[in-house]
Amino acid sequence: MPEILKVNNLSKSFGKVRAVHDLSFKVDQGEILGIIGPNGAGKTTLFNLISGEIKPDAGEVIFNGKDVAITQTFKKCRMGIARTYQIPRPFLNMTILENLLVGSIYGAGKSYKESKKQCVRILEKTGLSAKSGALVGTLPLLDRKRLELAKALATNPVLLLVDEVAGGLTEGEVEEFLRIIHGVRKEGVTVLWVEHIVMAMTKGPDRLLVMNFGRRLFVGRPDEAFNSPDVQKIYLGDED
Ligand SMILES: Nc1ncnc2c1ncn2[C@@H]1O[C@H](COP(=O)(O)OP(=O)(O)OP(=O)(O)O)[C@@H](O)[C@H]1O
Ligand SMILES: [Mg+2]
Repeated sequence: MPEILKVNNLSKSFGKVRAVHDLSFKVDQGEILGIIGPNGAGKTTLFNLISGEIKPDAGEVIFNGKDVAITQTFKKCRMGIARTYQIPRPFLNMTILENLLVGSIYGAGKSYKESKKQCVRILEKTGLSAKSGALVGTLPLLDRKRLELAKALATNPVLLLVDEVAGGLTEGEVEEFLRIIHGVRKEGVTVLWVEHIVMAMTKGPDRLLVMNFGRRLFVGRPDEAFNSPDVQKIYLGDED
């Protein structure tokens, strides 16, 4: 499989905090790469760098062979990079369907008719069909999480960044997200997935990137990662 994403020596500091520190890794097309690490390890900062919300101090983000480290966010969205937010940001006074249409029409640049068709499919995929007309402000946690993923999918991504979509859910609900994300990958989308829940990170990804203090601590199969003494050490005394 060809590489869709190559992160080369990427660094970003906030004052004295090295949030991402000389980080390098590769992702194959169609892969699910899980990303774990203690609170503050730099996972969300890495997503902000890949999606373009912040610019790196140094390093490259090679997407489909092109360095996009300083490309603007909306351009990256049109190129097919989408993300979910750790703190969801839906339009609360709009319906679920309307939230998706915004992503599809503005994010992916499609016509209303095309968008509507696509959004209906995404609602089915994410288990939201029955609630498409519900106002987002009234939704329970599980549906807000579904919507967060659905909104990202509405922009038609080839690379999807998922930031802690399963936190606070029951085991059965986490299993549902595993199925949804595996379904998304089956359609050819490459996924980077940050999550603290061990069950999700054992069953979901093909490989895991373990981060600590902004650096790469380990990359490999999930079982190898969780059995690694280095990885076990950073989680000792960590409440997650
Ligand atoms: N905009 C910012 N300004 C200042 N410091 C920041 C900013 N964003 C992140 N940081 C700091 O950078 C470090 C990495 O933060 P980041 O949010 O990337 O961690 P994380 O791995 O996503 O953590 P968590 O698991 O808690 O979500 C932390 O020390 C954080 O306080
Ligand atoms: Mg985070």
